[in-house]
Amino acid sequence: MCGIVGYVGPREAAGVLVEGLSRLEYRGYDSAGLAVAHRRKVTVRRTAGRVDDLRELLGDSPPRGTTGIAHTRWATHGEPTGTNAHPHTDASGRIAVVHNGIIENADVLRAELTARGVRLASDTDTEVLPHLIAEALDGGAGSPAEAVRAALSRVEGTYGLAVLDARTPGELVVARNGSPIVLGVGDGEMVVASDLAAVVRHTRQVVFLDDGELVTVRADGIEGSARITPTTVDVEGADYALGGHPDFLAKEIADQPDAVRRALAGRLDTRFSTTRLGGLELDPRDLRGVRRVLFLGCGSAYYAGEIGAGLVEELARIPAGAEPAGEFRYRNPVVDPDCLYVAVSQSGETADTLAAVQELRRKGGRVIGAVNVIGSAIARECGSGVFLHSGPEVSVASTKAVTNMTVSFAMLAVLLGRVRDLSVADGRRMLDGLQALPRHIDAVLESDAAIGEVAKRYADASSMFFVGRTRFSPVAREGAQKLKEISYVHAEAYPASELKHGPLALVDPAMPSVVLVPDDELLAKTVGTIEQIRARGGPVIAVTDAELPDGLADAVLRVPRTEPELAPALFGVPLQLFARHVAVALGRDVDRPRNLAKSVTVE
Ligand code: G6P
Repeated sequence: MCGIVGYVGPREAAGVLVEGLSRLEYRGYDSAGLAVAHRRKVTVRRTAGRVDDLRELLGDSPPRGTTGIAHTRWATHGEPTGTNAHPHTDASGRIAVVHNGIIENADVLRAELTARGVRLASDTDTEVLPHLIAEALDGGAGSPAEAVRAALSRVEGTYGLAVLDARTPGELVVARNGSPIVLGVGDGEMVVASDLAAVVRHTRQVVFLDDGELVTVRADGIEGSARITPTTVDVEGADYALGGHPDFLAKEIADQPDAVRRALAGRLDTRFSTTRLGGLELDPRDLRGVRRVLFLGCGSAYYAGEIGAGLVEELARIPAGAEPAGEFRYRNPVVDPDCLYVAVSQSGETADTLAAVQELRRKGGRVIGAVNVIGSAIARECGSGVFLHSGPEVSVASTKAVTNMTVSFAMLAVLLGRVRDLSVADGRRMLDGLQALPRHIDAVLESDAAIGEVAKRYADASSMFFVGRTRFSPVAREGAQKLKEISYVHAEAYPASELKHGPLALVDPAMPSVVLVPDDELLAKTVGTIEQIRARGGPVIAVTDAELPDGLADAVLRVPRTEPELAPALFGVPLQLFARHVAVALGRDVDRPRNLAKSVTVE
């Protein structure tokens, strides 16, 4: 969501901060700002708009100083204006704060401060923090860290924050509660950030703060409660560079064959026709004890969970389902001790999913993570699970992580199946199918230009249907989601069988339908659906691995044939390419769609 960068070291901070912000821009981007300390004075520069606007504002004379903090904001409290942009300061300008998360009792704290004569300059929840910190220092707090701790004791809500005090240049106070903070330990310098993306260019030695930790960061070390020994992260600066691709979405779609290979590496057990998912920490008896599986996630992770539920039912013959995590957490769910709950999240930081995990753990549920970001809050809260290994995702719309979710769920389903009634031959068939998947995705990627031509033909539609049935119903939902997110074209998904029960009324020549037509036991019925749509004049774009009669559809996107259970992973890819091409044709910023953020760490 919002992004934080901080720097302490020998270099001029402003340049490092702005560069770091540009790496985080994908998380949230309606305003940006920085604060730098120099000669016991803090200089703040803020603006509405993007990091480029901040860069322009700084021009040739960025504020001098070698300690600083910076922020990109995604508005929650108050409009995205320069005044509401972070950093926020106290009345004297001594303390500057950047903050991610939400202070839930901000109204009460604002009222208290106002009653004490403090004039608040912004509409934000964050602004209470510098005032409370300054009050604590005036009230005798012995150090900035002590003052921040005192201020935070008044705060209800979530935060990841960095604080700069003009009187102690050369140090930052950093704290975390529910919003990620990572410390990059460089050679005589420290980079603080809400996301590895801003750190890995400088160092791969990092310390992830835990919830409740508060530390003072100096160029030569970290003081406070954090585990001081850094870990080395397996992420390269190149993961965050376009590397010749027009946008990160294109890059991440194209990366999928490699991403799938990474997810499969070392996990296919051809000797016993099963999979090895050691991170689950479930032995065969535990696996046999699972009587139900429920996937919980938000957005694309939820749709991937629906695909996962289908795979588990089909291969392991265990009842399985998926639910939006944000609904689950609030409906006082019955937690079944024999159910395996799977928390699905690319970022591992989504607040709703994290809260669902916490609710489950509180009630004694068994919950594992299916998470991409190692060291993230959900991964740590679950303690066990399957990492997605898709590599960093920068574009807001999730692609390679979704594909790897499906692949991971297929491996989980095989594992659960093989301790039950999935035969050796079927286990083997699934392993072969998984191994062939990267090659099949490559073949889909080769048809990118052809998909682009089709997308251009339909880009001016104001609404589209996505239609698929059984295994492909969640694939259709995810396809519609991709189109909505990045092109702003309205799209709805329906199981093919439901079309005639209402939505068909909307079909006319201006309403294209993208129909998923796998060569499976329902092929004849899906062909029937296409005929129903076309009989009402509706254009049909068929996505298929079957030989369709000539002229059945207005456009055909071909997909190689794979194992039927794995086809949902493959059929998702042309839908990603289609959505991207529609968005590009409409001139959208595909990596940074309006109103959305990559990881939603607030409710
Ligand atoms: C946000 C993003 C979606 C994503 C969802 C879940 O809403 O815009 O693209 O699917 O969060 O994110 P997660 O990181 O938990 O998979």
